[in-house]
Amino acid sequence: MTGRRRTAVLISGRGSNMQALVAAAKAPDHPAEIALVVSNRPDAAGLDYACEQGIEAVAIDHKAFADRNSFEDALDTVLREHDIDLVACAGFMRILSATFVEKWLGRLLNIHPSLLPAYRGLDTHERALADGVTEHGCTVHFMVAELDAGPIIAQARVPVLAGDTAETLAARVLKAEHEIYPQALASVASGAAKLDQTDGLSECRAI
Ligand code: GRF
Repeated sequence: MTGRRRTAVLISGRGSNMQALVAAAKAPDHPAEIALVVSNRPDAAGLDYACEQGIEAVAIDHKAFADRNSFEDALDTVLREHDIDLVACAGFMRILSATFVEKWLGRLLNIHPSLLPAYRGLDTHERALADGVTEHGCTVHFMVAELDAGPIIAQARVPVLAGDTAETLAARVLKAEHEIYPQALASVASGAAKLDQTDGLSECRAI
């Protein structure tokens, strides 16, 4: 099928969101194809899964590079070598610089395990439980230079239940992540959701 957007998924570990994206993109009418999986950790379990699925899988070990810029240059080169259109971060545990984000602006997505703008950063489930919130969830957003701050493409809400631990809550959120990420990727790949840059980066919004 022609016209499907060639998508790279960036991972650092088990890659369950990547697996959900791969599964969804197998549908012939899905507007994205998962053409590449990249991990900054050579031991990421997700790389094995990608290989088993016949998807090109590349490890770019960030520890082998002198600094963030040279790591990102290598990443950018691999993405371009594979004619990648869209980049979906899925449990990718490296902060991407403003320079890299600018190169891929509007084509760079991330999934975050909270209802952004609440709980940017790490330990979202622990912090939600500590606050005693009754609702938690996950967000797919366009990446901008500011961490976890880009325009929102999709969100899913889950209840926080009595007796929840960070683990039980994370598992409930993860199930929702696997539902919304393929839908959000489809929205971007089909052109239904776009990053609106008409008013400059500070005014970015998903449309
Ligand atoms: C997910 O909860 C994702 O939102 C967060 O890290 C986790 C990655 O899980 N950023 P997986 O590697 O996709 O299984």
